[in-house]
Amino acid sequence: MVLVMDFGGQYSQLIARRIRECGVYCEIVPFNTNIGKIRQMAPRGIVFSGGPSSVYGEGAPKCDPAIFEIDVPVLGICYGMQLTAHSLGGKVAHATSREYGNTRLYVDNPEGLLAEIGSETQVWMSHGDYITEPPQGFAVTGHTNSSPVAAMANNQRQIYGVQFHPEVVHTPEGMKILRNFLFNICGCKGDWNMGSFADQAIGKIQQQVGNKRVLCALSGGIDSSVAAVLVHRAIGDQLTCVFVNHGFLRKEEPEQVVKTFRDGFHMNLVYADAVARFMARIEGITDPEQKRKIIGEEFIRVFEAEAAKLGDMDFLVQGTLYPDVIESGTATAAVIKSHHNVGGLPEDMKFELVEPLRDLFKDEVRALARELNLPEDIVWRQPFPGPGLAIRIIGEVTAERLEILREADSIVYQEIKIAGLYRKVWQSFAVLPAMKSVGVMGDERTYAYTIGLRIVESEDGMTADWVRLPYEVLDNISRRIVNEVKGVNRVVYDITSKPPATIEWE
Ligand code: XMP
Repeated sequence: MVLVMDFGGQYSQLIARRIRECGVYCEIVPFNTNIGKIRQMAPRGIVFSGGPSSVYGEGAPKCDPAIFEIDVPVLGICYGMQLTAHSLGGKVAHATSREYGNTRLYVDNPEGLLAEIGSETQVWMSHGDYITEPPQGFAVTGHTNSSPVAAMANNQRQIYGVQFHPEVVHTPEGMKILRNFLFNICGCKGDWNMGSFADQAIGKIQQQVGNKRVLCALSGGIDSSVAAVLVHRAIGDQLTCVFVNHGFLRKEEPEQVVKTFRDGFHMNLVYADAVARFMARIEGITDPEQKRKIIGEEFIRVFEAEAAKLGDMDFLVQGTLYPDVIESGTATAAVIKSHHNVGGLPEDMKFELVEPLRDLFKDEVRALARELNLPEDIVWRQPFPGPGLAIRIIGEVTAERLEILREADSIVYQEIKIAGLYRKVWQSFAVLPAMKSVGVMGDERTYAYTIGLRIVESEDGMTADWVRLPYEVLDNISRRIVNEVKGVNRVVYDITSKPPATIEWE
C-alpha cells in the first residue's frame, strides 16, 4: 500500500488514481496524520502531494519530520518537494514570477526515479516558490531554465522530489516516473485491481455499519447502482433501496430498474409510484427553475414518506464520486441551473452517510460496475438529469407530451446504438419544445410538434460540442421519428456548443 499525503493540492486524488492505474493500492491521508498511525498502516511508499501554500506561509501545512526517519521511501511533488527540502535543511526561495505550464526538464541523472527518461523531456509546472539548494546528501537530478533544482534525490535514504507534476497528462513521461517510484524504489508488485477495491470497500462498509439498517435512494444511474450493489454485498438485507418513479423517466426505465435490482440482485427494493403526485404538482408550470425546484422538493417528500414507513434507519448510501466532492467544495461557482440529483440528501434528515465511491473517478466506477456484474445497460448509461424528461419538454409538461418525447427519445437511443455511437458520445437525446408547425403527410395538412435532437461530446459535462453526426444517422432518426411517433411532423438538430448553450435545454 502507498500513502498519498494531502497538502491541499488539487491533484491529490489524481495522484492516487494514477497509483491505482499502476495496480497499487493507495490511500489518501491528511498532511498532519500522526506518525504512529502511519507506521501502523505500514505503507511501502509515501507521496507528498502539491498544495497552494508556501513553506514560509503562516499556517503552511507541515508533516511531522519524523516521517523521513521511518525507512519508507518518500516522493515529494511540487509543494511536497519544497517541504521536503525545507524540512531537511535545503533552501527554498520565492520566485519573482511563477513557472507555469509546459516546461522542458533537463535530466542531470537518468537513474532511480528518472530511470529511462530521456535527457530532455516535457513536464508540467505550476509553482511560485523554488528550491535554490537541495538538502545535504541530495543530488540535483533535473533542472529547467527557471528552476535550478527541478528534481532531487537522496538514493541512499530513498527520498525524492520533483517540482513538476508527474500525475497530469501534460507530463508525458510522468507515469514512467511514478512507476519507477512504485516498482523500482518502493518494491510494489502492481497486482491490485478493482476486484481488490470491491473487497476492501465491502470490509469498510461492514465495519462502518455493523448490524444497523441502511437506506439508499436508487435512481438506476450508474453511481447509485454501483454504490447500492456494493453495500448490498457487504450487508445484504440490512439495506433497503427506495426507487422513486416521478413519471419523467425514459421508456421502460422503471421496469428495468425493478427487474435488475429485485430479480437480478435480490435486493430489498421499494418501488414508489409517485407519477400522479408529480403530474399534479407540475401542471401549468413553464419556468425551468420552478420545474426543477418543484421536482426536487417533491422527490424529497416522497422519499421521506417512504423512509418513514420503513422505520428507523441509521445510514444513507450516497453514490458520491470524487468529482462531486471537488464540485461541492467550490462554493464560488455561479448557479447556472439548480442541479437536483435524485438521491440528494434531504437536508433535515439525520443519517450518517455511507459513500463507498468517494475516491473514484467515473471510469473507475465503470470498471467497478463490471466487476460487480452490473448489466452493460447500466455500466454504459449516459448521464440523465434528476428532473428527467420534465426539463426536456420546453413549456408545460403534459402526459401527451411526455408520451411523445419518450417514444422519440427511444428512437434516438436505438439509432445511436445501431450506429455504434452510444458509448462514444457524452449524451444523445430528444427534446420537445412546446411548439407546433405545419407539415404535410400523404395529402393531409398536419399541425404537430417538433422534436429537437441533442447529441454532444464532452469530457465532463462542463463544456460540450455538438457531434458531427453522419447524415445517414440523422436521416434514419428523423424518418423514424416522423413516421413512428404520432404527433410529430418535424425534426431539427441542435448545432450549438456549450458554452454558449447548455447541454440540456432547460
Ligand atoms: P447542462 O445542461 O448544465 O448539463 O449543460 C450538464 C450535465 O449535467 C446534467 N444535468 C443534471 N444532472 N441533475 C443531474 O443529476 C440535474 O438536475 C441536471 N441538470 C443537468 C446534464 O444532463 C449534463 O450531462
